[in-house]
Amino acid sequence: MKGLKVFSGIQPSGNLHIGNYLGAIKQFVELQKENEAIFCVVDEHAITVPQDPEKLREKTLEVAMIYLAAGIDPEKSIVFIQSHVPAHAELGWILNTLTPLGELERMTQFKEKKQERKGTMAGILNYPTLMAADILLYKTEAVPVGEDQIQHIEFTRMIAEKFNNRFGDTFAIPKPLVDKNTARIMALDDPSKKMSKSAISEHSYISLLDKPETIQHKIKIAVTDSQTEIGFDPAGRPAISNLLNIYSAFYNEPTDKIEKKYSGKGYAEFKKDLAEVIIEGLSHLQHKFSELSKDKDGVLEILRKGAVRAENISSKTLQEVKEKIGFYR
Ligand code: AQP
Repeated sequence: MKGLKVFSGIQPSGNLHIGNYLGAIKQFVELQKENEAIFCVVDEHAITVPQDPEKLREKTLEVAMIYLAAGIDPEKSIVFIQSHVPAHAELGWILNTLTPLGELERMTQFKEKKQERKGTMAGILNYPTLMAADILLYKTEAVPVGEDQIQHIEFTRMIAEKFNNRFGDTFAIPKPLVDKNTARIMALDDPSKKMSKSAISEHSYISLLDKPETIQHKIKIAVTDSQTEIGFDPAGRPAISNLLNIYSAFYNEPTDKIEKKYSGKGYAEFKKDLAEVIIEGLSHLQHKFSELSKDKDGVLEILRKGAVRAENISSKTLQEVKEKIGFYR
């Protein structure tokens, strides 16, 4: 993939985990090489569920530092905080006025979050229109995401087509970019649920900033099954298959090779090695992260410069939209 406009974002709503890394961030780093890439810390999305203000600021900077530590180069890619560019909220509002309520109510994320908490706020319902605005403002052609976000990209395509049909060609129709092997990393304590940063139990995920002994412990207590042989069978044996998948993604070897490597060996040996593979796989990122943590003002400066570049692009699209829908300049 070359020469495409690429956009994606991550919410500062908790501890970023290896699912976020393998499903999204790893793709971001690759895609920036030959495409025009924009990566955002979507703090306006994070407040669709209650956030402590200080914690939100801390996590916003943390996500940005993880982007940079993972290898996103701010000279090549635009990296910024969503709330620094008001065009996102403004276009989000306009798109709300074109969106049938039923389209928002049928979104899986909305239904899940509504079930999880009492007193759901309107922001969680309108999450997809804001996400569509994020993507469409940059005339984005490709959006690297994990599997859970595909429905929101489909929504974005629908609303972009609707706008283009009604007001004339304005937006590119973006497609999701999904790495099928890592699109859905499952929780360590329950392989029927996706690994999630807002999970209640810290043992369900491995944070990108977990210490080696924490990683060893979390993998040691990760659920498996009652069999004795290591085997890859996502439908029949989801827990061990998830662990094999994580091993494979960090080790860059297909799951069948890893399965063979552990033939005749027990879960304990496999888990011990898996923990080491993850620790090794995250060591460079963690080292860079701790370097960046010493200069948070420098990181904020990068983000503010990124916001100026993002504003230059998005303000033009927003102006075009406003003229087309009948607003005065
Ligand atoms: N378990 C996962 N496996 C693969 N990819 C995943 N992503 C999330 N979980 C997994 C991808 O990471 C990006 C983060 O997107 P987000 O911050 O907008 O939130 P999300 O998709 O809702 O992710 P989380 O971790 O579950 O956050 P919370 O708990 O805050 O809702 C997306 O590309 C996502 O697909």
